[in-house]
Amino acid sequence: MTTVTVTPAGDDWENTVADTLVELLPVCAGRRFCLATGSTPAPVYRRLASRSPDLSSITLALLDEFGGLHPDDPGRCLAMLERDLLDRLRTEHRPRTEPIDPENPPEGNWPGAIRLAVLGLGMNGHIAMNEPGSAPDSPTRRVELAEATSIGALRYGARRAPRWGVTIGLGPLMASEELWVLATGGSKAAVVAAAINGPITTSVPASLLRVHPRLRWFLDEDAAHRING
Ligand code: F6R
Repeated sequence: MTTVTVTPAGDDWENTVADTLVELLPVCAGRRFCLATGSTPAPVYRRLASRSPDLSSITLALLDEFGGLHPDDPGRCLAMLERDLLDRLRTEHRPRTEPIDPENPPEGNWPGAIRLAVLGLGMNGHIAMNEPGSAPDSPTRRVELAEATSIGALRYGARRAPRWGVTIGLGPLMASEELWVLATGGSKAAVVAAAINGPITTSVPASLLRVHPRLRWFLDEDAAHRING
């Protein structure tokens, strides 16, 4: 089943998502969350951190990571997660984290059982770094990035545009208990509508998630304005 939660204009979108996450925490002790990074979830993580949640019983797996960047590059996905969430938590509340080492990439079903995957949406419909053409059962693997994804990393402060990355595959993501996809802003409206109302196709990887039994979209009004029903 797919649920679409649209935050009305003027309301605080990141608050809605952070609140829902906080409500879920008590039943997720000992479980694994898998988190996207990037511009969309950043305000949600900052809002979450401001609530001082205790994540010490949660394991956080990184959803993906850029390859070929210096380990200290501020555009690395781990660096973003640290800036927006981990470094803002009290030391005793920090989760166990499972970063991705691009030089020694995990593969197959890594990271194993996922309670909740919080995903962003690429302008080309990508999910994590599963670019268009990715198979619905694709494993965790090294991938070549679409041009826009590569250039997009510069927005995150990357010192150079990465050409490849390592991503959790659509296969392990589809095996998650619950999937959330976050999207905001009018620039995402067309791809959101394609993912929710268009054909289920590998050309729009996000559309493949529609067969998941527990898929929830968190949209602001601008991102939602082209969806039907
Ligand atoms: C990053 C990730 C990507 C982004 C997507 C949207 O971990 O999984 O798929 O979610 O590229 O990025 P933003 O939110 O920056 O528009």
